[in-house]
Amino acid sequence: MKKYLIAGNWKMNFLKNETIQFAKELSSKLENRALEQVELLICAPFTNFHYLQNNLSDKWSFGAQNMHFADSGAYTGEVSPLMLMDAGCEYVILGHSERRQYFGEDNELLTKKINSALNHKLKPIFCIGETIEERNRNITFDILNQQLEVLKNVEPDLLSNITIAYEPVWAIGTGLTATTEQIAEVHSWINNYLQTNLSTSLKILYGGSMNAGNSAEILAIDNVSGGLIGGASLKVDQFMQIIDNAINLS
Ligand code: 13P
Repeated sequence: MKKYLIAGNWKMNFLKNETIQFAKELSSKLENRALEQVELLICAPFTNFHYLQNNLSDKWSFGAQNMHFADSGAYTGEVSPLMLMDAGCEYVILGHSERRQYFGEDNELLTKKINSALNHKLKPIFCIGETIEERNRNITFDILNQQLEVLKNVEPDLLSNITIAYEPVWAIGTGLTATTEQIAEVHSWINNYLQTNLSTSLKILYGGSMNAGNSAEILAIDNVSGGLIGGASLKVDQFMQIIDNAINLS
């Protein structure tokens, strides 16, 4: 039986009032759900942590979408792992394709961030995925291979605290979801990579236009341990349906 992780990535969305309203609605809908086999997580903007925590039940875990690798210092505009822990975060998304694309995050930086998160007992959700151009050139697995190199620089004992998120860049925010076959193929490849190169098995989430309608099919695929959900995690009914599908499958 799988224990699913259903994680919302709110990206740069929601002000105070929307956050409070969303949290209250979601909490009331979740009241009678059996959640033993499903872990629920929201990775919100820093400014919303407080409002979420005050209005969501303790069934939820919280996470950030990025962090600096240093504990403190003269890094204007950055947030440190210590600050995230202090603010009640358990998880941090690292290496999201939007951070790679718009903020130039590369393997060298991500190695520092992942190790820093792990040393502070924050659980990284490490995102990997190919662009459409890379998929069309048949180099998807070369790209994933390069991105996963980062994990070879992690203390082996700490690897088990990492969750992988496979997010094909072309499926993010586009309404295009990878097919069941594509997801099954990549997740199985990642699982083999982890076993062969790092002697470990990790949770592997799928992300990319997951929604109420396609989530049951995606979550049922072998080696899919949950979802990292963008747009649909901002809509209570959509998010609830994804959670219900995970409950029904677990
Ligand atoms: P969408 O669900 O909006 O495609 O976003 C996926 C994502 O980037 C989650 O990290």
